[in-house]
Amino acid sequence: MEIINTVERLKQALNALRKEGKSIGFVPTMGALHHGHMDLVSRANAECDVVVVSVFVNPTQFNNSSDLEHYPRTPEADAELLKKFGCDLAFFPSITEIYPENWVSPRVDLEGLDQVMEGKFRPGHFKGVVEVVSRLFELVLPGKAFFGLKDFQQVAVIKKMVEQLSLPVQIIACETSRTEKGLAMSSRNSRLSESQKEEALIIYRTLSQAKTDANRFSPEETRTKAIAFFETGSLKLEYLNIVDPVTLKDLTTDWVPGASMCIACFCGEVRLIDNLTLV
Ligand code: PAF
Repeated sequence: MEIINTVERLKQALNALRKEGKSIGFVPTMGALHHGHMDLVSRANAECDVVVVSVFVNPTQFNNSSDLEHYPRTPEADAELLKKFGCDLAFFPSITEIYPENWVSPRVDLEGLDQVMEGKFRPGHFKGVVEVVSRLFELVLPGKAFFGLKDFQQVAVIKKMVEQLSLPVQIIACETSRTEKGLAMSSRNSRLSESQKEEALIIYRTLSQAKTDANRFSPEETRTKAIAFFETGSLKLEYLNIVDPVTLKDLTTDWVPGASMCIACFCGEVRLIDNLTLV
């Protein structure tokens, strides 16, 4: 595995591989890597000749400076894991490599996907995600890019961005990796104590209960029951929505295929998100 810090070297290495006819798979990350990320790397390895992983904590997608400051950073451990799981090129750029002076933020109409849920509670978040992912795609030019479905809304936003900018990349959405008890793997989990990890299981229990309820109740009734159940735990709910998987609009009376429940909440100071397809 080669560790790369500059755009110049990245392009050089990728051009040589492309000349050999190799297909390029890409996994963008913000580091603090865990087994959920390694599942993405393994999938990329299975489907592509060469796997590129970027590790970059993108400041433009944080609307809260304390969240950015506390975001876990573990570059040495990240490099070790990536090597072990078969990454070929590990790209650890600086901020100026990603956002040089002449860089221009892309204009993308996300058709409202960025205005709900995460977009509502973290204004500007998806503008930052679009900025960094479009820039990384421009540098890596992958045939396939792999994203975890834990960030359900992010996947919808990135698919819309790819469509709007007509980018020649296939977005592969991968199932959420969970601990044995159901906690969705997240870099933020490293900030939870063992007892908080237990308390956070209410998230998956709520989602699983809702999946059962969806067989008998309307989306609105399922949502009301889910909120009541969630509130028997100690976490602070930010939102709990049942949405259409493509438009992300709230569902109330009728179910649609792929209808999903999305939750954002706080476990102490740590903000967690999760989701599950209900029908
Ligand atoms: O999902 C993430 O880790 C980030 O939002 C991403 C896609 C790497 C962009 O910074």
